[in-house]
Amino acid sequence: MNQTIKKYPAMTGFGHARPARSVSNDELSRFMETSDEWIRSRTGIERRNISETEDTEKLAEQAARAAIEDAGIDIQKIGLIVCATITSANRSPSTACLVQKALGLNDNQTFAFDISAACSGFLFGLRTADAMMQSGDIEAALVIGAENLSKFIDWSDRSTAVIFADGAGAAVLTKSGSRPLVHFSRTAGDDEGTIRIKARGPQPFGPGPVTDPAGFIEMNGGDTFKFAVSAMEESVRQVLDTAGCTVGDIDWIVPHQANSRIIGAVTRRMRLPKDRVYINIDRWGNTSAASIPIALSEMRESGKLADGDRIILTGFGAGFSWGAALAEIGTRASASETAGARVSESDGPEAAGPEGSDTIHD
Ligand code: UT7
Repeated sequence: MNQTIKKYPAMTGFGHARPARSVSNDELSRFMETSDEWIRSRTGIERRNISETEDTEKLAEQAARAAIEDAGIDIQKIGLIVCATITSANRSPSTACLVQKALGLNDNQTFAFDISAACSGFLFGLRTADAMMQSGDIEAALVIGAENLSKFIDWSDRSTAVIFADGAGAAVLTKSGSRPLVHFSRTAGDDEGTIRIKARGPQPFGPGPVTDPAGFIEMNGGDTFKFAVSAMEESVRQVLDTAGCTVGDIDWIVPHQANSRIIGAVTRRMRLPKDRVYINIDRWGNTSAASIPIALSEMRESGKLADGDRIILTGFGAGFSWGAALAEIGTRASASETAGARVSESDGPEAAGPEGSDTIHD
């Protein structure tokens, strides 16, 4: 008797894009009162990439193309594009719509939109795509996190300037998992500006100078730090409980890369196995919504993620917003399906290489 095995939406392909310009801590300390020693010891960051010519949508497109190629699916199967970003070049159209056009999917039955949930954006996008795939006829979805945070930095504010950076990551979802994704998502509105980028104020009618230039990132680092540790701890516990699992059942924990001390504190409090907590903040900085999919893509590139692996993603950010997903890595499509997704070398992301440390710093 033929039995159909139910398949659930699962991430099957990953990609990322890194702006060409690398900026070291020493370079920052040449024009602000900081030091390589302070930045490394307080944040874990050694360098980051800052875009000079790469728009948010260009980074998003490159990450998306690489993820489609990694998934091995025909690009025409992409029915949904969700892009998590707080640093679009345009208020409208959305970055997701621009990626749709760049991928040649305007005549496809694809629809696309952005999500604004700061550093939790990729997690919220994953949940959205999962639900839409389960309720509709979408065969494959792209979830992207893409940020150009450097364009919103006040370079005289050393508490934010040394942390935030640029980049994009993407994941392709297909119905290729043997278990449902498990999500935990929360927000709690914060009108006190603990982490905030103010939109430009309204411009008065008529000719005259611009009254309010675009907003910069503002952050109360200490309050954010405390919130982050408890938010990630709660999120990881919630998805484990819902799935009826223990940490021992999980291959990798991939946290939002905001500060290696935050990740270290969660790891210690929850007694997580250090060698299964992925860290790449040393070479990327904090790329907000892009940080989790960039980490996943690097892990795929360096052979750390295999089909069927069970992983926990967790993050937190402005809003406030926080959450986690317990996910199984889906089975990739057969090589025969890859033809439509091939891209030229020049289109692909710069090879990031798995160099540097990728586990907890004490
Ligand atoms: O993606 C989500 C959003 N963001 C976060 O998750 C950020 C969470 N918070 C943090 O990562 C940390 O709070 C920071 C890295 C932002 C700051 O580290 P901290 O250990 O909390 O430092 P602090 O703000 O308590 O400042 C300690 C000292 C201060 O000097 P005094 O008052 O002790 O003389 C600061 O003025 O360090 C000084 N300081 C710096 N010194 C050199 C602050 N920033 C810098 C800097 N370089 N870049």
